[in-house]
Amino acid sequence: FNVPTPINEPVYSYAPGSKERSLLKEALQVARAKQADIPMLIGGKEVRTGIKGELRPPHNHKHLLGYYHKGDKKHVEEAINSALSAKENWENLAWEERAAIFLKAADLIAGKYRYKLNAATMLGQSKNAYQAEIDSACEIIDFLRFNVKYMTEIYEQQPPVSSSGVWNRLEQRPLEGFVFAITPFNFTAIAGNLPSCVAMMGNVVVWKPADTQIYAAHVLMEVFQEAGVPAGVINLIFAHGPDAGDVIFNHPDFAGIHFTGSTAVFQEIWKTIGTNIHKYRSYPRIVGETGGKDFILVHPSADVKVANTAVVRGAFEYQGQKCSAASRVYIPSSLWPEMKALMIEDIKSFKIGPTEDFGNFINAVIDEKSFDKLAKYIDQAKIDEDAEIIVGGTYDKSEGYFIHPTVIEAKKADYVTMREELFGPVLTVYIYEDDKWEETLHLVDKTSIYALTGAVIAQDRYAIAQASSALKNSAGNFYVNDKCTGAVVGQQPFGGARGSGTNDKAGSMINLLRWVSPRTIKESF
Ligand code: SER
Repeated sequence: FNVPTPINEPVYSYAPGSKERSLLKEALQVARAKQADIPMLIGGKEVRTGIKGELRPPHNHKHLLGYYHKGDKKHVEEAINSALSAKENWENLAWEERAAIFLKAADLIAGKYRYKLNAATMLGQSKNAYQAEIDSACEIIDFLRFNVKYMTEIYEQQPPVSSSGVWNRLEQRPLEGFVFAITPFNFTAIAGNLPSCVAMMGNVVVWKPADTQIYAAHVLMEVFQEAGVPAGVINLIFAHGPDAGDVIFNHPDFAGIHFTGSTAVFQEIWKTIGTNIHKYRSYPRIVGETGGKDFILVHPSADVKVANTAVVRGAFEYQGQKCSAASRVYIPSSLWPEMKALMIEDIKSFKIGPTEDFGNFINAVIDEKSFDKLAKYIDQAKIDEDAEIIVGGTYDKSEGYFIHPTVIEAKKADYVTMREELFGPVLTVYIYEDDKWEETLHLVDKTSIYALTGAVIAQDRYAIAQASSALKNSAGNFYVNDKCTGAVVGQQPFGGARGSGTNDKAGSMINLLRWVSPRTIKESF
């Protein structure tokens, strides 16, 4: 038994006049017209506490999309108990049956739920139609299908060698206990992947999405239920982070965490787990993808048009809020005048506004906190001697949290926006002298505290090889003559080391193997 290797889900274009476009517009209208009332889902039951949080589109914060019901420590305990009660039946279900459930979930998203989930991502997280499509349709479908494929390979792998009179086996058991999944606002695909790939391997999950992702998370949960994920296997909670952590990280059955979010939160979680280590039945699995300060390094031999496209798309798609987004770019002085002109021309042509208008390329940043943080860096750059704003530098939060795509030229390689993670449409460029290529390679590596994605743009083969070697630890996903975003499941397994996480490549067998605890059996005859 095995499943065929999937092909990546085709991307719908939503071209003017297309059927998909009108279906997506219809889904957006439906979502905007009614006020959602989103419950938690614990043990298969909808839980409404009456303590409500508001959901508003970041690009139109005067519009109320609906409410979600907040939980407290008691609900987190209930979610853990529901998960543990569901565990025995779930792990004893043949893995082929679990595979079928998640393949069905992929098909439901590819068909019936595609527009609803894309509309939820567009409204809740301010993604344009294309960015929603590659995330909340294609990437999540690919995660589900490819992970099922990798799962079959794990269960069907060659057994250990047995000598005469002996039968050796390796049994892939799920972890003992429950797993906690924490997901970020920026990808609905990550929200779908983190709990599902853990559950696929026979584990039970308590899942807490970011508050700014709840609208899409709710739709995903609907998909999982309809696909047949039994009650209690994935429990969706909306509790305050520290409250959830307090219950979960003190629980003896805590078996692991699958996390995507900030470096600071991940480090706090790791410390808490360390402090509580004696309380757990097993050493918990800690799998996390955290921050980034992703780079593009342009070599003097680069094709300037290729470099410009890589930089502009890598930095500004989804308002620079992909963990993979380019946020510092090193450009040789000989190419800078031409590249600067191209960048300014492209950036000025971007249309900015709400996601419901499909002509807008740039939408809003996720919330007021992020807006204020970005505005502060921009204002600082306006007065700093070491910085010059090349394009952009304006912002407006009267209707939505709009930051105009901004490029800062740093006069020093260690200028603050060359170092700190901004998570928004603010890119910093540093111009180096052409004869300082080797020093620049060293500089990029030395300053890569994070190591998620990076790219080199060059035509000189020797320079590509040099960069690939010098920067081997500076990026978990390294691109040559391409932008540093848009990893495709099954094609470029995704994840980074250093401050960017545990590098357990999302959408790969490496990741799935973290969610099993194998037993070796030797039987002598
Ligand atoms: N996988 C996404 C990308 O590569 C980021 O999570 O852009």
